[in-house]
Amino acid sequence: MGVNFILFTYFILSLYVGSYATVAEDLPFHFSFNFTKTYRSEDLIFEETAGPHGKLVDLTCNSFSQEIQGCKGRMSYAHPVPFYDNKTGQVASFNTNFTFAILIDENTMNNKGDGMAFFISRFPSTIPTNSGGGNLGLVDNQTRPAYGHGGIVAVEFDTYNNSWDPQESFDHIGIDINSVESVNTTILPSFSLNGTMTASVTFDNTTRMLVASLVTQLIHLDGNISLKQYEVSTQLPDPVSSLLPPEVAVGFSAATGSSTELHQIMSWSFDSSLAHQSNDKGYIKSADRHKKAVVTGGLIGGTLVLVLLVWFMLSCWKWTRMRKELDKKLSGIELFQYRDLAAATNQFSDTQKLGEGAFGVVYKGFHKESNRDIAVKKIKSSGKMKDFFNEVRVINDTRHKNLVKLLGCCCNAYSRRNIVDMMCSFCRRKQQDEVFLVYELVNNRNLDYHLHHKQDKVLSWPKRYKIAKGIASALHYLHHECDPYILHRDIKPGNILLDDNFNAKLCDFGLSRIAKPGNATLMTTAIGTHGYLDPQYIRYGSVRFNRSSDVYSFGIVLLEIACTGKSRDEIWGLYRERRDVTKAADKRLQSGDDFDRSEIERVIVLGLWCSMINVNNRPSMRKAMDVLEGEELPDLNIIVQSTSASTDQYEFCASAAKKV
Ligand SMILES: *[C@@H]1O[C@H](CO)[C@@H](O)[C@H](O)[C@H]1NC(C)=O
Ligand SMILES: *[C@@H]1O[C@H](CO)[C@@H](O)[C@H](O)[C@H]1NC(C)=O
Ligand SMILES: *[C@@H]1O[C@H](CO)[C@@H](O)[C@H](O)[C@H]1NC(C)=O
Ligand SMILES: *[C@@H]1O[C@H](CO)[C@@H](O)[C@H](O)[C@H]1NC(C)=O
Ligand SMILES: *[C@@H]1O[C@H](CO)[C@@H](O)[C@H](O)[C@H]1NC(C)=O
Ligand SMILES: *[C@@H]1O[C@H](CO)[C@@H](O)[C@H](O)[C@H]1NC(C)=O
Ligand SMILES: *[C@@H]1O[C@H](CO)[C@@H](O)[C@H](O)[C@H]1NC(C)=O
Ligand SMILES: *[C@@H]1O[C@H](CO)[C@@H](O)[C@H](O)[C@H]1NC(C)=O
Ligand SMILES: *[C@@H]1O[C@H](CO)[C@@H](O)[C@H](O)[C@H]1NC(C)=O
Repeated sequence: MGVNFILFTYFILSLYVGSYATVAEDLPFHFSFNFTKTYRSEDLIFEETAGPHGKLVDLTCNSFSQEIQGCKGRMSYAHPVPFYDNKTGQVASFNTNFTFAILIDENTMNNKGDGMAFFISRFPSTIPTNSGGGNLGLVDNQTRPAYGHGGIVAVEFDTYNNSWDPQESFDHIGIDINSVESVNTTILPSFSLNGTMTASVTFDNTTRMLVASLVTQLIHLDGNISLKQYEVSTQLPDPVSSLLPPEVAVGFSAATGSSTELHQIMSWSFDSSLAHQSNDKGYIKSADRHKKAVVTGGLIGGTLVLVLLVWFMLSCWKWTRMRKELDKKLSGIELFQYRDLAAATNQFSDTQKLGEGAFGVVYKGFHKESNRDIAVKKIKSSGKMKDFFNEVRVINDTRHKNLVKLLGCCCNAYSRRNIVDMMCSFCRRKQQDEVFLVYELVNNRNLDYHLHHKQDKVLSWPKRYKIAKGIASALHYLHHECDPYILHRDIKPGNILLDDNFNAKLCDFGLSRIAKPGNATLMTTAIGTHGYLDPQYIRYGSVRFNRSSDVYSFGIVLLEIACTGKSRDEIWGLYRERRDVTKAADKRLQSGDDFDRSEIERVIVLGLWCSMINVNNRPSMRKAMDVLEGEELPDLNIIVQSTSASTDQYEFCASAAKKV
């Protein structure tokens, strides 16, 4: 009874707070995010490389290495923001504050770039195709300058002086209207845009002044920290409706080129004096809200409702508890609603089916809420939800352009997040746990299809080489840059997806610990069809899978890329007798005029090296990358001879045994 009384008081109090919040919501437009806390993922749209990462949002790729070159991404508010009212002619005054960080690699300090920007654009935000590097993900390089057509106003925090930027220093802030050639610029001392900073952007509807101010931390030689403030401003043209539509998208954009750095957002708040036009769908009119409050008040008076009330209170309590638990688990992972995924994939219909892998069925679909194409993998989980979230968090924290990007996840049992569902859950049986991983959609089938099944067009050598380098780069990232490192465990052409530009994107990594494959399925697909699985692993089924097992599979994939259809033994035979290994290359390539003998030899020899039977002879992915980048090729015959005679023999026998 005591608990109930407390709950009752809590409920009445929350009702007061609730009605206060209703009034507060009637104030003009407002939203805010603090990424160290949880937030509704439906409220944000992430494009390309942007995505939540732990307690912040990375706009571009998030590790210091070669592989963060040429990344671009945007994060924007997922709902339209009113800019002016088309009927009354009233224009918004707005103010936004954000905390962000630009981190430069101390090793390549003078090679930093390119910067980031706060932008206002047409809704929804769409990152232009060729907007990398100095275009900061804002405008297409083809359209610069594009006054009047780009539909974009931005405040740039630029860390690299391109030819169109001021040359006095690397760093500057500027205001961009439809072009990255700023209309006004404030030059900062080089390396001012380094570390965590706060900025605000304010627009006044009477003066039409757009003012951006930035506060940076200055670390003195004596260790003192002082703050330094910079400002840049401009008057927007009259009328502002010549720039943008009545409702706009707001957000952040960033890009790296051949110079790199990290661009991160920690918190963001936005206020506007203009509310949504009242006829807007999806936004409840204030009159409706008040009516609701009155009705709720009436209900509390009724005795009949008392029963409901107790029920509601209990739900409230259970809901709050579950929310807390869930929020803790999910920090940084976007949670999708089951019903949205079902709608996106047409109730998981067969027509939307992309394929069936060792871990589950994959569907494609269009997620209306975030306005993007997605691939949904439906997985039978191995049971423990805690493990599931831990593993998903590991996958979620990876960001590399050759890895298929995880957008978020969904599991039936946990997606019931609202109070009404929770109230109903009392009378429902516990549902079976089905989990879903939501990925970006990679459009252009997989490597297996392009090597073996595409009849009309042969995959050219330059494309194959680019794919090989892409996979190597992704595996290097998983093995050597992730901490703790991540094993793929099932590298094969079917798991290498290609995008429209034939960039390789590795999928299914990290899944083996989450999902329960029909264990046999994983083994048989790997051994039976192609033999991508480390023979050492097959021989001693219980041997721990380790990085060299991935290296083995990678080697076999390389051989498949260069010599499609040939067995490793056949190729090894040529090599052992010191004959020209490029003779083993795919016949269809040999007639092409882009047949690059030295690159092909490089890929074949590296493939043989990586797939050596003796685990100790295989290179690490770091070494493999160096070889693909042009380091001298080793003599594998010497490597084999230097290991013991018995292993030497094994090198010849084992691969034959493998093909059973
Ligand atoms: C975000 O939340 C953290 C943790 O509560 C707090 O320390 C930080 O000041 C908040 N940031 C902003 C800008 O409110
Ligand atoms: C705004 O109003 C003008 C003229 O009244 C009309 O042509 C235009 O389509 C309107 N724009 C939107 C986005 O409603
Ligand atoms: C500017 O915003 C205020 C509300 O803050 C509004 O009353 C006024 O009409 C707006 N002015 C213009 C020119 O839109
Ligand atoms: C724009 O970018 C594309 C792709 O990166 C490139 O091929 C093209 O040359 C660029 N155009 C200009 C004008 O820089
Ligand atoms: C950019 O700024 C640096 C540092 O002030 C200067 O050395 C360089 O000449 C400028 N221009 C270019 C194109 O890098
Ligand atoms: C950038 O910031 C870091 C951390 O505050 C500092 O250690 C480093 O010296 C700064 N780099 C430059 C070039 O100012
Ligand atoms: C650094 O700190 C000392 C004492 O705390 C102070 O006297 C000095 O003025 C500071 N220097 C700067 C550059 O702010
Ligand atoms: C550029 O911005 C500065 C700082 O806000 C301001 O003083 C100056 O008047 C602006 N110049 C133009 C041409 O708007
Ligand atoms: C931004 O910061 C200023 C100064 O701290 C504050 O007055 C304003 O309300 C803040 N705006 C938002 C949208 O949080």
